[in-house]
This record gives sequence, structure tokens and C-alpha cells, in this order.
Amino acid sequence: EKIIAIVPAAGLGSRLGLGKNKAFADVGGLPLLVQCMRMLADTDCVSRVIAVVRPQEVKEAELMLEEYSKEYYPLLPFCVVAGGKERQDSVANALSAVTESDGYIAVHDGARPFAGKEVFKRVLNAAADSGAAIAAVPVKDTIKVVDENNLVQYTPVRSTLRAVQTPQIFKISILKQAYELLQKQHGNVTDDASLVERLGIAVAVAEGSYENIKITTPEDLILAENLCKSRGLVR
Ligand code: CTP
Ligand code: MG
Repeated sequence: EKIIAIVPAAGLGSRLGLGKNKAFADVGGLPLLVQCMRMLADTDCVSRVIAVVRPQEVKEAELMLEEYSKEYYPLLPFCVVAGGKERQDSVANALSAVTESDGYIAVHDGARPFAGKEVFKRVLNAAADSGAAIAAVPVKDTIKVVDENNLVQYTPVRSTLRAVQTPQIFKISILKQAYELLQKQHGNVTDDASLVERLGIAVAVAEGSYENIKITTPEDLILAENLCKSRGLVR
């Protein structure tokens, strides 16, 4: 089954520090968002992409995605919509452009160009069973919860912890319900599954990949260049 992909890429990229939205940053000789589109096309799971960028970048992103379409994702339909203040507002805007009510939606960060086909397949299989599934990997570091004075509050048992990634794949009806709830409640979430969890719906965890990095800080760009080289993604 093929799924719709919402690709939030409407952030500021402040931690990367390039002075522009990292969606337009060069990764392996191509814009990051283009590398991500290329990866999505290669999964063979995605029927169309709704990319989300900042309102003033919509035209630029459309032109950019069109420019590279023929060479890198010729069979993948896409559109670009304007995002909002927080990531959740960007996803909400994209979701309002989805008229279908049957089938599945993947939400996948524009900053994760290395997720790959295997991860998509695993998350999709898990979502087909439960209606909601996310990619995650066991954390390597010990994680501590701290207070505002940087004093350790407690240490969760590491074997119970997962670092959560995207894709996060949901039945369309479930994701729409989750975002309707967000309109009534306030608060900030950093991933879509947390909204689904608030509905009391079980979210399945599928195996992600340690290579499925989110390009966030400058050292991630070095990792990304190496991954591009080893996967033959350099232009
Ligand atoms: N995102 C979005 N809309 C926002 C904020 C973030 O679509 N209002 C997207 C980002 O473009 C990114 C993904 O959500 O693809 C994950 O967010 P993050 O890594 O935090 O990216 P930025 O918000 O751009 O980076 P920073 O927090 O360093 O400014
Ligand atoms: Mg951010």
C-alpha cells in the first residue's frame, strides 16, 4: 500500500546556524530537502509528498523541487504548503490539505534524508497492525532527568528508553483526530505520536536506524557528507 508523506521543513535551522532554513542547505551537492525527496522516492512506499516550508519560501521551494524532480524523483508527485510557528502547526497545515480519509500518512522530517526503504517498510508494517507506529532506536547514552539548577532528579533505566525518529506513520483518521484534539488543548509537542498517545491510542515502536540522523547541529553535516559518500548520493 502507498501512503501520503507530510514533510515538515518549515523551521529556522537555528541550531545548524547557517542563517537560513536548513531545507536549502547543501548536503552531498544537493539541497537537503531534495535529498529527502530522493530518499522518499526510493522507498517505493510513498504516493505523494506534501512538503511544508515557511510561508515566504513556498515559491522558492516549489521551483527547487521542480528543478530536481526529473533527475531524482520523476514519479513522485509533490506539493508545497506554508508552515506555521511550531512544527505541530506546520504538520497541521499540511494535514488540512489532505482530503482523503482512508489509508495512511507518514510524517517525516525534511531534515532526515537517510531514513531509507527498510525503516519505512518496518514502520509501515507496524502501523498496518496497530494504526500508529514510529521509528526509534535504543539510546546509547545514559539519560538523566535534571531540574532547572542542573541537579539530577533521577535516572530512568536505559534499557527502557528509545530515541524517537521519523517516519511516524498513522491511519489518516487517527492523525486527524489527534490534530483536532490539539486545537482544543494547548501545549507544545516535539513529535506527532505524542498527540496520538493523548488520545489513548497505542503507538507501536518499530526499529529505526542509527544512520537516520536528523541534521540539527554543525557536526551532523560532517556525518551527512560521509553518509552521502558511502551511499553514492553525492551529486
Ligand atoms: N519544522 C517545521 N515547522 C516549524 C519548526 C520545525 O516544519 N515551525 C521542521 C523542521 O524544518 C525540521 C523538523 O521540523 O525538518 C524538525 O525540527 P528541527 O530539527 O528542530 O528543525 P528546525 O526547527 O529548523 O531547527 P532549530 O530548532 O535548530 O531551529
Ligand atoms: Mg526546531
